[in-house]
Amino acid sequence: MELAQTIDQLFSDRDRAAGEEHFAAFREFKQKLNAGEIRAAEKADGRWRVNHWVKRGILLGFRIGRLEDYSINDDFRFYDKSTYPPKRFGMGDGFRVVPGGSSIRDGCYVGRGVTCMPPMFINVGAYVDSDTMVDSHALVGSCAQVGKRVHISAAAQIGGVLEPIGEMPVIVEDDVLVGGNCGIYEGAIVREGAVLAAGTILTGGTPVYDLVKDAVYKKTEDSPLEIPPGAVVVPGSRAITKGRGAELGISVYTPVIIKYRDEKTDASVRLEDILR
Ligand SMILES: CC(C)(COP(=O)(O)OP(=O)(O)OC[C@H]1O[C@@H](n2cnc3c(N)ncnc32)[C@H](O)[C@@H]1OP(=O)(O)O)[C@@H](O)C(=O)NCCC(=O)NCCS
Repeated sequence: MELAQTIDQLFSDRDRAAGEEHFAAFREFKQKLNAGEIRAAEKADGRWRVNHWVKRGILLGFRIGRLEDYSINDDFRFYDKSTYPPKRFGMGDGFRVVPGGSSIRDGCYVGRGVTCMPPMFINVGAYVDSDTMVDSHALVGSCAQVGKRVHISAAAQIGGVLEPIGEMPVIVEDDVLVGGNCGIYEGAIVREGAVLAAGTILTGGTPVYDLVKDAVYKKTEDSPLEIPPGAVVVPGSRAITKGRGAELGISVYTPVIIKYRDEKTDASVRLEDILR
């Protein structure tokens, strides 16, 4: 039986106690996640689609894992699911983990040339492609898919989307700059080469105003929020125009596409690269 089918079957049979069949399938599943051979979401013909069975496999790992002691000594204590120990990696894997309080959970892919600055955390199901920088205090949440040469700046939070199973994880395509203190949550897709200025927050419910193309981008029932390729998004605000909010002159936060990437943006972004 195919691994996908086995996982689906074991996942749906909730009443069956975890046995060797579960653990063997999960081991194979996790090894493929670690190798980047299977992913929580994949792009085909320009569209991202969720691999539901992969998400089920990750949830299965949580269900069958028992609490395990990962403590280093009596002072540094850690406890987590036995199915999700810290990821094992070595020199041959070709990525840098600068000494400090970082953690990479088992069951995620980290490509060659990736730099991990402490402290940062990469969660299960994440895919971090080659030459990407994950700066200090950054989170790459569960199932997040991050492209090549992405800069995830200090304290940027890429939220995890494990459940509901059909929900798109956060996607950050190649050559994106995610500025310091940004937050990308609830399955937003940031297309190739886009730039999120420091402090930009994207969620499922956030409308994004494109001042260049005179458009508003929103999540719909069947498509996630998408930031177009090369867009430069800055944190902005818009006035509430109705009701009490309008009377009080209140504004709410909104991300704004102020321009599309040009030579000036490339120069601003390149400055950040010096830190690599
Ligand atoms: C977005 C960014 C890359 C600038 O891009 P740029 O293409 O050089 O932008 P420009 O200077 O051409 O600015 C275009 C317009 O956007 C405005 N703007 C630029 N950055 C902005 C910001 N962060 N917030 C609000 N407005 C901003 C400018 O004032 C300008 O407006 P104007 O035309 O009315 O004068 C930069 O602001 C930024 O956020 N860099 C990331 C910094 C960071 O997080 N580093 C991480 C270190 S770990």
